[in-house]
Amino acid sequence: MTAKAADLQSLERDLSARIAAASDDASLEAIRVEALGKQGSVSALMKTLGSMSPDERKQFGPKLNALKESVSEAILAKKAAFAEAALEAQLKSEALDVTLPPVRPRVGTIHPVSQVMEELARIFGEMGFTVEEGPDIETDFNNFTALNFPSKHPAREMHDTFFMNATDEAGARKVLRTHTSPVQVRTMLKQKPPIRMICMGRTYRCDSDSTHTPMFHQIEGLVIDETSSMADLKSVLIAAIKAYFEVDDVRLRFRPHHFPFTEPSAEVDVGCDRSGGQIRIGAGADWLEILGSGMVHPNVLRNCGIDPEKYQGYAFGMGIDRLAMLKYGMNDLRAFFDADVRWLKHYGFSPYLLPGLAAGVG
Ligand code: PHE
Repeated sequence: MTAKAADLQSLERDLSARIAAASDDASLEAIRVEALGKQGSVSALMKTLGSMSPDERKQFGPKLNALKESVSEAILAKKAAFAEAALEAQLKSEALDVTLPPVRPRVGTIHPVSQVMEELARIFGEMGFTVEEGPDIETDFNNFTALNFPSKHPAREMHDTFFMNATDEAGARKVLRTHTSPVQVRTMLKQKPPIRMICMGRTYRCDSDSTHTPMFHQIEGLVIDETSSMADLKSVLIAAIKAYFEVDDVRLRFRPHHFPFTEPSAEVDVGCDRSGGQIRIGAGADWLEILGSGMVHPNVLRNCGIDPEKYQGYAFGMGIDRLAMLKYGMNDLRAFFDADVRWLKHYGFSPYLLPGLAAGVG
């Protein structure tokens, strides 16, 4: 055996041992560059072919080629083995045993107020209402003035308003909104009719007993177009209340009332049964007041840049907490905001069952 052939053999042994021992793609690549790269040991031997005698070349050339081939094949094979092992590991780590018993992650419950808001958004959403929002801290203009409350009028006091400290020189005081009606104003100021919206959120009045908390929730509805009437208001409310309480024989009673921002105004009672110490909506001879409503006052439209000669519409407002109490049977509103985990567990809703046509609201 010539010296060169011996060199070749030992080079081959050395390379295949190192390839076999390589632990990852990077070390494999280093070996490839060292052997087959431009400056590599195999490539260097290739270059010596030119200076050989024809006989030598005839004997040595094929061996060298075979070496080159076997080294690159070994590297490819090893690479493929690495890829397969990686895939194997990934599959193992992602394995899912569908025979294991289901364990629900512990994620608490949905508060009844949130649940009812979802239900109402659903119900009014299906009737073509969009959802608008406004801030809890409102200007006096949006909360009162634009809504046709005369200045210094006792109606402002009637709302048991929380006033903020004056922050400007004119002494204008912001308020914690006493109702969601200022979102009517915000919507009319930014959007041209037709308007068909609801708004849900926190409202504040300085009041506290078993059916009143200083912070509570309201839903507001506003429809402005060229033809909407008291009859439309009535049919929308009847449909919504039926859907919400999931009873067909809902009776509503519209009683004349006064709100500065609607004319005419009506308070609405829902028929119920109070016998047995529980309120049941639907059957029965009793009435329960649940909302305020009316045709939007022309002054309100004017204050919001809408021509009352051309447009008209209706508005309504309801207490969300009251709606939740009536549907889900809680009798003390204050417990809503105590953050008592036992209460939340009992009255809360599963986060996996959002209200929809199949669950909660039909
Ligand atoms: N904002 C009124 C309230 O809080 C309810 C209401 C809304 C009445 C819209 C009429 C129209 O009492």
